[in-house]
Amino acid sequence: MCGIIGYVGENGGDTAVVDVLMDGLSGLEYRGYDSAGIAVAEPSIAVRKREGDISALEEALHGGKLDGTAGIGHTRWSTHGPPSDVNAHPHTDDETRVAVVHNGIIENYRALRDELEAVGYRFESETDTEVVPHLIAAGLEDGLGCEAAFRQAVARLEGSYAIAAVFAGSETVYAARHESPLVLGIGEDGHYLASDVPAFIQYTDRVIYLDDGEFARITPETVTVTDDAGTVVETSVETIEWDADDAGKSGYDHYMLKEIHEQPTAVRQCLRERVEELERSIAVDSLASLSTPERVQFVACGTSYHAALYGARLLRERGVAATAFLASEYDTDVVPVDSETLVIGVTQSGETADTMGALRGANTVGARTVAVTNVVGSSAARECDHVMYVRAGPEIGVAATKTFVSQQIALVLVASALTGEYDSQLVSALRDFSGQLQTVLDESAAQEVATAYRDAGAYFFIGRGHNAPVALEGALKMKEITYKHAEGFAAGELKHGPLALVTDETPVFALVTAGSKPTKTLGNVKEVQTRGAPVVAVTDGCSDVEQYADHVLEIPETHPTLAPILANVQLQLVSYWVAHELGRSIDKPRNLAKSVTVE
Ligand code: M6R
Repeated sequence: MCGIIGYVGENGGDTAVVDVLMDGLSGLEYRGYDSAGIAVAEPSIAVRKREGDISALEEALHGGKLDGTAGIGHTRWSTHGPPSDVNAHPHTDDETRVAVVHNGIIENYRALRDELEAVGYRFESETDTEVVPHLIAAGLEDGLGCEAAFRQAVARLEGSYAIAAVFAGSETVYAARHESPLVLGIGEDGHYLASDVPAFIQYTDRVIYLDDGEFARITPETVTVTDDAGTVVETSVETIEWDADDAGKSGYDHYMLKEIHEQPTAVRQCLRERVEELERSIAVDSLASLSTPERVQFVACGTSYHAALYGARLLRERGVAATAFLASEYDTDVVPVDSETLVIGVTQSGETADTMGALRGANTVGARTVAVTNVVGSSAARECDHVMYVRAGPEIGVAATKTFVSQQIALVLVASALTGEYDSQLVSALRDFSGQLQTVLDESAAQEVATAYRDAGAYFFIGRGHNAPVALEGALKMKEITYKHAEGFAAGELKHGPLALVTDETPVFALVTAGSKPTKTLGNVKEVQTRGAPVVAVTDGCSDVEQYADHVLEIPETHPTLAPILANVQLQLVSYWVAHELGRSIDKPRNLAKSVTVE
């Protein structure tokens, strides 16, 4: 989704603003985009924008230096109008008095555009965003100052937005937030604003998260946050716990591979100070005030939904009525939800519009809400009654890997903490788990499997019990980074339809681990093998599936609850290596965005 960067200050030379903006855009690339642009605002506004990636914009900058102390930049993920130079942000008014960047969707843009065109404003692009600079210009023409014109324009907007604007001849960046993330950075040599911290982490780790309905004004010397009435809001400055190196590739070819290899660390971080073996307790501080809920509803999307399926099953095993919903399908009009219901949003970014919509709906009808998220200060973290951070560290690759593993471990802790259950075998398995993840990473034969099946027509993934969500996740990872057809099924469902698709050109990945009905899954393996399908067994050696498999991806023995998490790592690696062999854009797959902030 779109990314915003803004900067005011003197970060080391007269071209510094452009450098900071370009660094910021690079730091936002992971969100997914199809065009990029910047505007620098002093003495007059200069805009450069290009369809394509940031290198295209860099070329456009070679033509001449952009001076100034204030600027804004944007990576665009198209919603209104296709990717093009004209539709790229920033957008300006007719006389280039103001330049604007926007993330989100302005739902009433058609009516606003008709109104503005009727009084003579000329539009160049097909975007919803372009109404904003014209609305601001209308305010300026009515005699308002920059800030008043900005506020008046924002007040006309319906929908979701994070907006930043610069004015010709001004050293100030103005911003507003409503249902799209914005964070301010407090630096030594100036101030920053962005959709996410990686945009400016190389300059400062001190941040202020804006809330919905808030406005910000940043100058080289000051940062002011106000509410929609203009009253100054007290803010707290937080320090980010990771640095620019954590957000880099550390020598790996891709962020995805780096993040897969960070999983042992991510798990250790997630467990830290939450499992006390001596005291025989599993506790999540932020959930301490919650008693065992009568009913739990998980809401999540994509990979996080697969983690939610796993979490719901963990709670059901402990006697709690728990269901996982796709957030986009969650509807409080048809789902029984009340003050006795605990609604848990599982979301890496904490900004996914569908998940936020579901959590807000649950809040409205009086349910208690919990965010299980990776991003400190995200919308989910701030809007839910409780938050549990999964502590995976920054995940830049669009494909979720380490955050999925961390979500699953976090949900093991949530299920134990909410029910007060202490399973000493599970706890000792958790103690060893990080080392076992490392073993899988060190000894995996996934690359050979990927080479063997890189040209397959389609890939199927099957598993039962806790392995069923991992089968879905295996397929999602395969399709999103290889662009090949892949489907995951609860193994028992295979014979109810999908078996018709199974041929000798469709490898079947079977998750066969202790505690997840291995004998029954073995039966399904035999069914597909009889139809000529190559079988790749991912197994802890709990059955004789090896005899029926063409390839075996081994995982160490662990607690049955945790085995699917290890198995998933093998599937991540297979997808990675297939995508690598096919030369795909692994970290930024086509059409996808890391943080999906539109519904
Ligand atoms: O940030 P979220 O966890 O809420 O994102 C939800 C999905 O968009 C996300 O899990 C997506 O499916 C993955 N990036 C796919 O790898």
